[in-house]
Amino acid sequence: MRIAIAGATGAVGRFVGDVARERGHTPVEISRSAGIDLLDPVSVARAVVGADSIVDVSSVVTTSAQTSRHFFRTATTNLLAAGDATGIRNHVVLSIVNVDKAPSGYYAGKVLQENIVAGSTVPWSILRATQFHEFAAQMLDRAKLGPVRTIPIMRTQPVAAREVAERLVDVAEQDAQGRVSDLAGPREERLVTLARAYARTKGWRIPIASVPLPGGMGTAMRNGTLLPGPDAQRGSVTFDEWLRTTA
Ligand SMILES: NC(=O)c1ccc[n+]([C@@H]2O[C@H](COP(=O)([O-])OP(=O)(O)OC[C@H]3O[C@@H](n4cnc5c(N)ncnc54)[C@H](OP(=O)(O)O)[C@@H]3O)[C@@H](O)[C@H]2O)c1
Repeated sequence: MRIAIAGATGAVGRFVGDVARERGHTPVEISRSAGIDLLDPVSVARAVVGADSIVDVSSVVTTSAQTSRHFFRTATTNLLAAGDATGIRNHVVLSIVNVDKAPSGYYAGKVLQENIVAGSTVPWSILRATQFHEFAAQMLDRAKLGPVRTIPIMRTQPVAAREVAERLVDVAEQDAQGRVSDLAGPREERLVTLARAYARTKGWRIPIASVPLPGGMGTAMRNGTLLPGPDAQRGSVTFDEWLRTTA
């Protein structure tokens, strides 16, 4: 199968490419570093021609609802139009567990993305996952205040991005299914604890503070809104195992 991967260089996108190749598929990598801008409909249409499925794991780094909505509206509309034109069998989107219960900040764009896809005539599937084990490292990289890393107070049940990628390729290999079961990690953690463990493993001696993020997005992070329900499927790799073997 030819699988177009939007966000192919990202934390999960790189594993989607690996898994697709391991299973004998042909991944088509979409990212600005590969010369394709999702905000440009012409270059997206060119990249997607001949694809059987699209896996959209693109993202924008922002806490602004406006920026997030703009990115996901434009990228999603371009991908759906390109998929429609080439007769895609399945447009697969990765979203976030319980994101619709916290439609603010970055999550506002994700909710819009889900709604645009679910309202489309293109066959679609949406997988919601919890935060990745890699999320703590992403936050260490992005949340800086001078020398201090400011990690949001967050209850999370993280899952290995590799396990998410395996599930995404499973879904992309089949016909469109609409919403599929959520995917979560094996146990609940505190994000700041994960960030400190990651920094220790890397030998980084940096101050890490745990801070409340403002707004509805920050509230949802703190109060457990983003934790999975009892029906979610569970990945098997704990954060500690991931840290020992991967980080
Ligand atoms: N991170 C998590 O813990 C987590 C958990 C659950 C769900 N999700 C969802 O999973 C998806 C992927 O997240 P991630 O953390 O893997 O993202 P990420 O590491 O930030 O990667 C984002 C990807 O999007 C690409 N990209 C960004 N802007 C682009 C543009 N204008 N044109 C083309 N490509 C563009 C980037 O490549 P270039 O920079 O080269 O363009 C990169 O490949 C997101 O939708 C997110 O909401 C993430």
